[in-house]
Amino acid sequence: MINLILLGLPGAGKGTASERIVDKYHIAHISTGDMFREAMANETPVGLEAKSYIDKGNLVPDEVTAKLVEERLQQPDTEKGFILDGFPRTTVQAELLEGITKRLNKPLTNVIAIDVDEDVLIKRLSARYMCKNCGATYNKISNPTKVEGTCDRCGGHEFYQREDDKPEVVKNRLEVNEKMNTPLRDFYEKKGILATVDGEQKPEEVFAAIDKILSKD
Ligand code: AP5
Ligand code: MG
Ligand code: ZN
Repeated sequence: MINLILLGLPGAGKGTASERIVDKYHIAHISTGDMFREAMANETPVGLEAKSYIDKGNLVPDEVTAKLVEERLQQPDTEKGFILDGFPRTTVQAELLEGITKRLNKPLTNVIAIDVDEDVLIKRLSARYMCKNCGATYNKISNPTKVEGTCDRCGGHEFYQREDDKPEVVKNRLEVNEKMNTPLRDFYEKKGILATVDGEQKPEEVFAAIDKILSKD
């Protein structure tokens, strides 16, 4: 059983690593960012509320986010395990998650932080693009599709850039997340559950480092 939290600043490679973890372990991938973007696209009440924060690079309120995660963790696909990608990202959320995992009897097995320097993150975010059809994530510089203009995963030909990857939003997003990052890591460090991997290696090397930690248990 793997019940994993992936910690990391915007662009650290949480989503990229998650894709590879899911391919191997077939556990549920829970990205709060992806869930909010889907809710925004569908214009649900949560989506409309989240939009006002996300478009500026700010955090959606803790209670709103935690409620979404608690509902998601009750779905049957999480029984074999799950990855939390982008949650928690404040210590308040980490405390709320303690309550959630207790109530649902789904204790965490691993917390892994992916470390990447800020200057690398800025470059990565501005070069990121996604497949319109399947959501696979690529990077113009570091991680392009194998065949130009064709998604490796689904063969799709249409791509887009995330709204919050525009330069004026990226700066605030990084600042907001950096402020929360150290206390959050300390929270799990104190519990003795935190492991870290170097996120500046190639995606397959980052995955290998994570996999080594996961297969220890
Ligand atoms: P979210 O979607 O989670 O965004 P984020 O945390 O800013 O992280 P990203 O998805 O941008 O980065 P990632 O680490 O997944 O990197 P990726 O793999 O794509 O959240 C969006 C917003 O929603 C937040 O700003 C907030 O407003 C709200 N929100 C979400 N959760 C919330 C919460 N818990 N509380 C409150 N608000 C919340 O990789 C990045 C790029 O680098 C890609 O192009 C990729 O191809 C490339 N790349 C990846 N790995 C490597 C590598 N090893 N080497 C080179 N390039 C690489
Ligand atoms: Mg992501
Ligand atoms: Zn695709």
